Amino acid sequence: MVTSGTHAFEAQAECLQRSAECLHYEVEKHGSALARFDRLLSNSEFIEVASYFGTPMLQPNPKTQPWVDEQVILNLRAEREETADVEWGLLFAENFIVLHTELALKPAAHQPRYILLLCVEPPLPGAGGQTIVVPMDAVARCLNAAHSRMLRRTRYARIPDAPPFLRSENGRDVFSIRDPGGAGLEWHYEDGDQPGAAAAEVNAAIRSFLSSLYSPDTIRGIPWQRNLLAVIDNQRVFHGRTFGGRPLSGGAPRHLRRIRVSRDVRQTAELRQHSVAGGVIP
Ligand SMILES: [Fe+2]
Repeated sequence: MVTSGTHAFEAQAECLQRSAECLHYEVEKHGSALARFDRLLSNSEFIEVASYFGTPMLQPNPKTQPWVDEQVILNLRAEREETADVEWGLLFAENFIVLHTELALKPAAHQPRYILLLCVEPPLPGAGGQTIVVPMDAVARCLNAAHSRMLRRTRYARIPDAPPFLRSENGRDVFSIRDPGGAGLEWHYEDGDQPGAAAAEVNAAIRSFLSSLYSPDTIRGIPWQRNLLAVIDNQRVFHGRTFGGRPLSGGAPRHLRRIRVSRDVRQTAELRQHSVAGGVIP
């Protein structure tokens, strides 16, 4: 089991504004934050906390509407057996979820800046279904200069306006990428002043990134318990989920409520147009 590296502070539901301020302060400081509330927040209270961070994003996917409340809350209940549907069905099953930037395949301006998770029902201890987080700066520090340079010029192919896998924002290294989890990863390299960069070099940079992503030194788990609220800065922390969370003998499945909050920064600069190289990492 992965251990927690984040301290949770005690919070009172009757002092929502103060709790949101503390959460924001902690997120600014550490990239993620945990608050243990004295009772379960109602949907409107949860939305109020999320609104302190920005604008809660709508959940428009018609397939997930049975799990949506108030248009912005997604109820992540591990109520199904492992599924092959990795598009959306896995959200409500016991599947593991690879480490990722939320909505990594969208333009940067359409990615959430924050993810808020509120625990209604924690997974049984040792039964999996644990949220895992990894700081992006720790991953960036593991990359050598050449690999870092390559990732700053490589992005998803076929995704219009996709940001590079690695970029700088406000002096921080920001990744926009998800672990392909054994599937192919189609990338597009902008050659800049390195014309003809070999596909092998880009693939090596991506592999180096992936091995750094799962370093046991930096991966941490969120110790879910009822009424715990987690905030994750999507520009500073990767997140994922271990396998499990579905009760094997009756009982309630792991249940988290999630709100995505839109980013609060300006539109990113348009991508450069002089790209030439492309390839697929197997
Ligand atoms: Fe996610």
